[in-house]
Parts: sequence; C-alpha cells; structure tokens
Amino acid sequence: MNNNVKATLMVMATAIATGALAQQPAVKIGVIAEFSGPFADYGTQIVNGMKTYLKLHGDTFGGRKVEFIQRDTTGAAPDIAKRLAQELITRDNVDILAGFGLTPNALAVAPIDAEAKKPMVIMNAATSVITTRSPYIVRVSHTLPQDTQPIAQWAAKNGIKRAYTLISDYGPGIDAEGAFVKAFKAAGGEIIDSVRTPLQNPDFAPYLQRIKDSKPDAVFVFLPPGSQTIAFIKGYEERGLKQAGVKLIGTGDLTDDGVLQAMGEPTLGLITSFHYSASHDSPENKAFVKAYAEVNGTKYRPNFMACAGYDGMAAIAEALKKTGGSVDPDKFMTALKGMKLMSPRGPIMIDPETRDIVQTVYIRKVERVNGELYNMEFDKFPDVKDPGK
Ligand code: PHB
Repeated sequence: MNNNVKATLMVMATAIATGALAQQPAVKIGVIAEFSGPFADYGTQIVNGMKTYLKLHGDTFGGRKVEFIQRDTTGAAPDIAKRLAQELITRDNVDILAGFGLTPNALAVAPIDAEAKKPMVIMNAATSVITTRSPYIVRVSHTLPQDTQPIAQWAAKNGIKRAYTLISDYGPGIDAEGAFVKAFKAAGGEIIDSVRTPLQNPDFAPYLQRIKDSKPDAVFVFLPPGSQTIAFIKGYEERGLKQAGVKLIGTGDLTDDGVLQAMGEPTLGLITSFHYSASHDSPENKAFVKAYAEVNGTKYRPNFMACAGYDGMAAIAEALKKTGGSVDPDKFMTALKGMKLMSPRGPIMIDPETRDIVQTVYIRKVERVNGELYNMEFDKFPDVKDPGK
C-alpha cells in the first residue's frame, strides 16, 4: 500500500469513526409533570430549570446529547401519570424518567419504574416515602420533614408556645404535620389542634375561624403553592388572624417565589424554613437567576421547583460524564449515589444509602427589596437529611 492510499484510508476511517460518534443516539429523558390545570406552574418551572442548565452547560455530556420529551399529567392524576410512564418506556424508549411535581403522580409511577429499571429523578414531589418505592429513584428536591423540622425548632425558641397545624390532606401535608408536631413538642411546645384540608378545592373560611377562636400563638401551614396558598393568605388577612395575634409560619412552600408577588402585602414579615430562595446570595444563584430569565423570559421568577429541575439536569449530566455516556441503570445509579453538587441553593449531596437529598435549610423572612417581595435568609441549618430516614 503506498502512502497516498494509506492516507486516504485513514481519512475515511476517521470520517467513519466521527460519523459513528455523531450517530450515537441521544439520551432520552421522559419528563412527566403538571403542565396544565391548577398545578401547571409546577411542570413549567421544572422544565424552565432544566432548560436553564442546558443553556449554561451545553447539551452533551459523556459524549452523548440529551433531549427531553414532556408529558402532561394535567394535575394530581395517578392513572394518567401511570399511562404516560408506560408509553414513555415502551413506545418512546426513554432512558430516564424525570419531573414529578406532585406526590400522587410520583407514587403511581414508582412501581412501573422499579419494574422497568429506569433512573427516575424526582424534581419536586416531597413525601418522604417516595424514594423507598423503587431502587432507581433519586430525589434532588426536598422532603417535607426535612424542611419542617427547622421551623418547628425555630418557633419553639422564638416565643411560640402554643401552635395549631393546618395541612393539605395528602402525603407531603401529612409528613409536614408529623414532623412539626414531633419537633415542636420535643422543643417544649404545645399543639392545640391539627386539621387537614382537602387537596381539591378546599374552602378555608371555617378552618380559619376555628383557628382564630382557639387563640394559638401561631398556625403552622403546609399547602401546595398556587391558588390554595393565595386563598389561605387572603383569608388569614381578611378574617383578622394577624390582628388577633396568631402568627403564620410554615415551610417555604407557603411563600413560594413563584407566587409571592401575587400574594402581596399580607406576606410581609412571614417566617418560613426552606432549601431555596431566589434571593439566595451566591455566585451560583446569581448566574442561575440571570440565565433563567434569558432562557424563559421574566413571566416567572425561578422557584424551588426550577432549582430542582436545574439540579436534576446537573445530576444527570454529571452521572453521564462518570459513566462515559452509559445509561445502564445500575451504573447510572452508582454514579448518582454520594454525588455532591454546588447548587444555586447551596451545597447538596445525594445520600448514597437513601438516594434522597442532603442540603442546607434556611430560615427566611419576607421583605420588600427594590420594590419586590423576597424570602430573605437570616439563619441556616447545614447538611439536613430527611429526619425520618
Ligand atoms: C407534593 O405533592 O409532593 C408537593 C407539592 C407541592 C409542594 C411540595 C410537595 O410545594
């Protein structure tokens, strides 16, 4: 073979190799979340966060491009979520499942996931038990007990002796109630009563009246953010609970950045505990907030769900880098376990034992900054695990 022929063959071999690389199929992520109905912002924020990650870091990791396919559960709809998961797995051949704003949707998909062995990245749903329902689930968001314990302890130390709890009657609410009652009593507090409101269309008026009449120092609240938190705050204000001396405390779901401006004045001064605030003072968060607006416009302020969408994409990207692009479920899960990332919310870690997130929980107060309402962090509890695990 003369040198010219050799050179030509080498060029061809390189071309084939490059072509083969380019043809490596994209990693497909099936995003199941709420994109319409009363919880439509959940899916939107999650996907906005995922897109923000791709904007800042490119879309190819471990040699493979990632793409996602969105599917809408339309709300808390376990049967729809199940069907969407089955279709994504068998028809669209996705490699990874992600999204999940609401607990009932995540719980419905978990057994299908365990059977199909697909890494499943929970980007919001925050009932403690979810991660135990499939060994391929990893959670990058939060759990209600993790976010609740710090405010219970803070309240007991800050003059609140008698508390009332009001929660939405499903997984995360029941978890929040359990964690609050336990931690508040352990710190010497007294629980006057605990009520649970329906997940669909609650009317808060009778509950608010009962709370006012029983004169607690504070009411601890967990409601899924959106129309319910707006209605609750409005009722709290209109029925004069504040004037009657009943403080309002909760996890940051209550003063969600995505809804805070719409809730307006009555939120000023509210104290909550949470893992993410759009006002978190760090270079990572400033870059995130800026890129979020560039990618998604300014209709939405990034909230904790957007942050978890961003971090979920980061975890997928880092895992792909570690596995060299392999989505073999066991290799992929090994890559995720123990992973540490610097999130816009601060340092996070995936607990290798539970596949749940370990993170800083902040105590915050709603303040007006440059004309807008923000949750301003003033105290923190580092490395908080889900206390039930
Ligand atoms: C949930 O359904 O798990 C959920 C929804 C909204 C939240 C937190 C948890 O803010």
